[in-house]
Amino acid sequence: MTTRNTDDVKTAYVTPAICDVAGLHQNLAHWNHRRLAPSAPTPNWEAELREEARMRWLEGVWIETLREEVAEQAAAAPSDVEGFVAWFEALKRDGPGQGDQLFDWLATTATLDDMKWFLTQEAAGEAGFDDLVALAQIKAPTTAKLELARNYWDEMGRGNEGGMHGPMLEKAVEALHLNPSIEGTVWPSLALANTLTAFATTRRYAWQAIGALGVVELTAPTRVSRVAYGLKRLQAPPVVRKYFELHAVLDVKHADDWIANVLRPLVSEDPSRARHLAEGALIRLNCGAKCFEAYRSHLWSAAPVQMAAE
Ligand SMILES: [Fe+2]
Ligand SMILES: [Fe+2]
Repeated sequence: MTTRNTDDVKTAYVTPAICDVAGLHQNLAHWNHRRLAPSAPTPNWEAELREEARMRWLEGVWIETLREEVAEQAAAAPSDVEGFVAWFEALKRDGPGQGDQLFDWLATTATLDDMKWFLTQEAAGEAGFDDLVALAQIKAPTTAKLELARNYWDEMGRGNEGGMHGPMLEKAVEALHLNPSIEGTVWPSLALANTLTAFATTRRYAWQAIGALGVVELTAPTRVSRVAYGLKRLQAPPVVRKYFELHAVLDVKHADDWIANVLRPLVSEDPSRARHLAEGALIRLNCGAKCFEAYRSHLWSAAPVQMAAE
């Protein structure tokens, strides 16, 4: 019998799973749609369970690869409350993908067709912030749980269908006659949704999920305000602009509340969580940065460049 050392095992596990990164994310995206959709009992449940074991393994390999990429940077995040909050807030300015030129270009230069292509990619890669928050709050400590509940209630339009964020984005997609599909989406956008879904549905990544969702609140206003500006320039109707204009303002408050009532108490209660929250935030920003790069490659070249699998 031969024995393999840890490095051999790691290589053997990771390589086959991500040699076709686009294929991996298409498969994960289809599986996420299937597994999260409400459904009825079927005689195939045992076969589905075997598929689930395989897909969750692939998902785990992907997430562990991303964790490895940011491990050093995340370990350097302070674990005292004030230090951690300052580190986290600085991500808005210095984090991966921040200040990407794509957004000024969307605001000032993109044509309506460019904007529609961008929004189709974003819509296909939207994992549903409301459900991610709902999953992240399971068994969370009380102060954090209450803030996640308030955030979720805002996602729900505080009980009014017209104010629900998910359907608001769907209405924008319909009004522009966009047709988002998994096959028509660049892999980094699918990867972003698959990563957030993996965090939210896997309890060993509970703190990563909370760090990732918090950094969305922190960084979204800058991006969506540029998108809203571009949509207004292109004379898109209010039904298209509403989702972006709302988040440009509301997420500033959501970020402040997330930092005060989720991150502060979690780190103060257990400083070892800081590293995991930091990992989630960095991984989410890296996924976003890869999307912007893929979007620019498509939108800024006469002959769209196929993004190489890494
Ligand atoms: Fe929202
Ligand atoms: Fe928000």
